Amino acid sequence: MSVMNYPKFYPGEPIPPENFANRKKSILTFERLLDDAELGSIRGVIISGERGVGKTSLLYKYEGISQKRSCLFIRVRAHKFTEESEFFNLIISRVGEALKKYGSLWTRLKTIWNDYEKKWGYNGTEIQKKKLPLQEEFHRRLQELGNCFLENFKVIIFAVDEADHIVEHPKILQIIRNVWEEIKKEGYKIMFIFAGKEDLSKALGKAHSPFKRLCVEIHVGAMDREDLLEIIERAQQKAKNKIPVKICEKIAEISNGLPHLVHLLGDQVVKTMKEGLKDPQVLWREAFTLFCEYEGLDEKYDSLNKTLSKQQKEILAAFGKLNRTHATMAELKVGTKLSLNSLSPQLGRLMENKIIERTERGVYKIVDPTFSEYFNMKMGYPLLRTE
Ligand SMILES: Nc1ncnc2c1ncn2[C@@H]1O[C@H](COP(=O)(O)OP(=O)(O)O)[C@@H](O)[C@H]1O
Ligand SMILES: [Mg+2]
Repeated sequence: MSVMNYPKFYPGEPIPPENFANRKKSILTFERLLDDAELGSIRGVIISGERGVGKTSLLYKYEGISQKRSCLFIRVRAHKFTEESEFFNLIISRVGEALKKYGSLWTRLKTIWNDYEKKWGYNGTEIQKKKLPLQEEFHRRLQELGNCFLENFKVIIFAVDEADHIVEHPKILQIIRNVWEEIKKEGYKIMFIFAGKEDLSKALGKAHSPFKRLCVEIHVGAMDREDLLEIIERAQQKAKNKIPVKICEKIAEISNGLPHLVHLLGDQVVKTMKEGLKDPQVLWREAFTLFCEYEGLDEKYDSLNKTLSKQQKEILAAFGKLNRTHATMAELKVGTKLSLNSLSPQLGRLMENKIIERTERGVYKIVDPTFSEYFNMKMGYPLLRTE
């Protein structure tokens, strides 16, 4: 195992499969679908979730799993298309990319596809008349792909990331759906995965209901604290200089369920460590400040700060003193030294402004932990509990 000086985070990049944390259920679902597909029963996946929650990373993980199981995984990242054919050309070119690492396999298919292009042509006017409609052409290319490779690969998987872009084109969806249904009947083990925004499954399901039948839905949601800590753990398992435990906990807390923020914050902490800072208090303060600047939060929070009453600030500071995102009424009462009579309406106001939420009975939660941290910093309270 190689040793690194500092932990390695991946801000803004999908995580390599070997560093991927948790999502056990989503992995199991995919493995079951592959089991079924190998036996000839094909269903795809619709992956939905907000930005930064880990959809693309999950696709990379699926790719790793597929490769280990001798399946061919073709990653396609959709973008804005003006013409339907662009999408299918993209898919076809991605087949080439995916097969390149298998050398002679790709050459075989390329020859077939080239012959086919010669036959159907794309420049002579006469031949153009004969050019196949998009759907038939796509169908035929998939058949040829299957004929060439389903001996070498157990299942062929097309994973379309940023699939929101194709929802705008009903024709593309129609073609995928029709072709997929046909090749399934013909016995080809070819599967599609679509990943996109929160409402992707609704969008695919509404106008094109067969997708619901053809796919299993996986919603990628916020991670819990343990998962977020696992990300940090994996990021620094080979590192000589580790991030202080208290800071790890802070990162998990501030990230509020989003792995994207763990990587951003973790990366800032590492940058600050590299500057030679050692004292955890100072280290965290510096890294957190950098993070706020990087995310452009200062302005937003400064103006929010101005709208708060002194008592409301005391309440937020009480969370800071507890070093937690959750607190009971009793804890807030002790922390703020406010009477119940003045605490309640102030909490009400903070809830109206969606700064605080009530979760279970008597437990209050800061909606955006970054805000309370920022506020504590401005007030000069210690950011890491030292006891
Ligand atoms: N399971 C995971 N384990 C570790 N890091 C993750 C995981 N899922 C996502 N990440 C990280 O979170 C960030 C956002 O992930 P990404 O897959 O790009 O999200 P999305 O595609 O949903 O926008 C990236 O920095 C990525 O490395
Ligand atoms: Mg993504």
